[in-house]
Formats: sequence, structure tokens, C-alpha cells
Amino acid sequence: MPVGASQLAGMWREVLALSKLAAGEHVLVLTSSNSNPLLADAALRAAAELGARALRLDIPPLWDPGESGTDPTAVTGRSQLDDNPMALAAMKEADLVIDLVFLLFTPAQREVLKTGTRMLLAYEPPEILARCMPSLEDRRRVLAARDTYLAGKEIRITSDAGTDLRATVGEYPITAEYGFVDEPGRWDHWPSGFVARVPDDHTASGTVVLAPGDIILPFKNYLQAPIRLSIEDGMIVKIQGGLEAEFLEQYMREFNEPNAFAVSHLGWGLQPKARWTSLGLYDKHATVGMEARAFYGNFLFSTGPSLRRKTRCHLDIPMRNCSFSIDGAPMTKGGQVIPENQKVFP
Ligand SMILES: [Fe+2]
Repeated sequence: MPVGASQLAGMWREVLALSKLAAGEHVLVLTSSNSNPLLADAALRAAAELGARALRLDIPPLWDPGESGTDPTAVTGRSQLDDNPMALAAMKEADLVIDLVFLLFTPAQREVLKTGTRMLLAYEPPEILARCMPSLEDRRRVLAARDTYLAGKEIRITSDAGTDLRATVGEYPITAEYGFVDEPGRWDHWPSGFVARVPDDHTASGTVVLAPGDIILPFKNYLQAPIRLSIEDGMIVKIQGGLEAEFLEQYMREFNEPNAFAVSHLGWGLQPKARWTSLGLYDKHATVGMEARAFYGNFLFSTGPSLRRKTRCHLDIPMRNCSFSIDGAPMTKGGQVIPENQKVFP
């Protein structure tokens, strides 16, 4: 059964309250032809009920020839705001932008955040938003993991399936997503719950073996057979396996960008409310797979861009049953989170 309009507005009130939305603040709800009108209506209603001044800004869509399908996470780096100073100015004036379009990894987003505007992305269907309602406990858990990751130097990820990947960290910031925006200039995505960090340039090396049941986003399939990725100097240099490996390699090659094969952010899932099975119950167009990215204990492997490396091709690959360690201390073991090794955030 679907989530009703009143419940959805109530959910938005809760998330906006967690985001410390105050009476009199200005909220901009950004939409385009890919936005869910139910989410827009509920967000506007909730913001008004909290005493904020809210408006909706609808912008034209932008299609990229690199896109196959409609998933907004598939192609990164550009948005329809890059050459739209009027829209950008409005967003910078807002205290809080609710992004129902998907501006992730775009220059426009970075520019808006620099002004102190907080930005909350929401794209999933209401039922997924409802199951993964964020909480202060989510924040505590994710920030504890972030602080532990921040203090680390060497990471290693292993699995019985054959993964053994090593890298050093420290050059790049950590993304810590808990699902609401309670500080000026903070960006987040409802729903979420994970930490992610790009390893130092040229340091990732070893093997990643994607096992049956692992998920390549934005393909949104559960893998049926293993895929072996050989990684040297921060780049995937060989992809071996059956049909799914061939599909993966062909998809990446079609961008015609060498950085498509770079190792991007690495981290682990911290959201107990997210389900590994959820993706199997939705059409591909209906979801961007946030439950897959966030489910508790997954190793979130990814490929493509970093702050220094440009490519439009970005894959997030949540993997089960992996062990993620930092300076020898396990954060996950066989896909189970080890919370006692993750500092408690005060
Ligand atoms: Fe990603």
C-alpha cells in the first residue's frame, strides 16, 4: 500500500525539524520533470506548517548523451543549474534547499553550499523514505564512524569471495550521510546512512571480487555470477567474469573516459533500517537504490570521479560479506558492523 499524503507531510515535518528548520526561514523546493510531485507537495506543506516561507522552483530537464535509462545517479558532474544564474541566486538566498532533481556532484551544488545554505536531497518513493526515517541515533552512529575513518591511515577490505584491496586515506574529505541537514552548508540525502571516502591518489591496489547478490548501481540487478576486478595504481586494469562482467566493462568503456575506471569512494553501510532485498521489489525507474547503498554492514565500493578526477561515469557497488579494516581494526567483519571499534561521537 502507498504512503498517504498526510503521513508524507508528517514525515517531512519530522525531517525538517531534525534539520532545525526555524519559523521565518526560507525554503526552496527544487523540482524538474523527474521529480515526484507527491514529495514536492508534502515538503511545501510541511515547511509552511513549521512557519517557514517556502516556494517551489521548477527547472527544465537536462539530458546527457552518456545516459542509458533515467537514473539520475548514472552521469555525474553537470546539472541544468550550471548556466542558470537566476536559479543559482535563488538557491543561495535560501536557508534550506530541498533538492528533488538530483544535483549530486555538480559545481552548482558546491557553489550553493559555500554560502551556508543547507541542502537536502530526496528522490526515493515515499515508502522507502518512510522505512528509513532518519534519527538522531543515525547521526550519532554515522559521525562515530566518520571520526574513526578520519583518524585512520591504511584501509584493507577482504572477503571469502576473494576480495583483497588495500589503500591509504587522508588526502580527501569524508562523506558522512545520516539523512538530514542540521548545520549551515551541510548537504545530505534522505534516506542514507554510510561513510565514504576517496582513497589517496594511486594507492588503491589489489583485487575486488563482486559476488552473487552484490549490486551494481545504476544497473540495479543482483549479480548472478562473480566479477573479478584487478586494481593497480588506483585504477581498474582488468575485469574478468561472465556476461555481467562483459556488460560492466562495455558500459564503462562507452563513456570513452579513462577516469571511468578509477577507484572512487570506499566506505561501509550504517543504516539498520535499509534492506538489501528492497531493490528486488521495485521497477528500475522508481528508485535510485539508496537502501542498497546504506544497508548495515555493506562494503560500498565505487568507481569514477573524485575532487581532482573528472569523469561522468560513476558506479556505486554495495557488496555483502566483506571485512573493512582501518589500521588493522575491523569496522565490519564478514558484512557485520563492529560498533565497538567506531568511536562514540559525543
Ligand atoms: Fe557514489
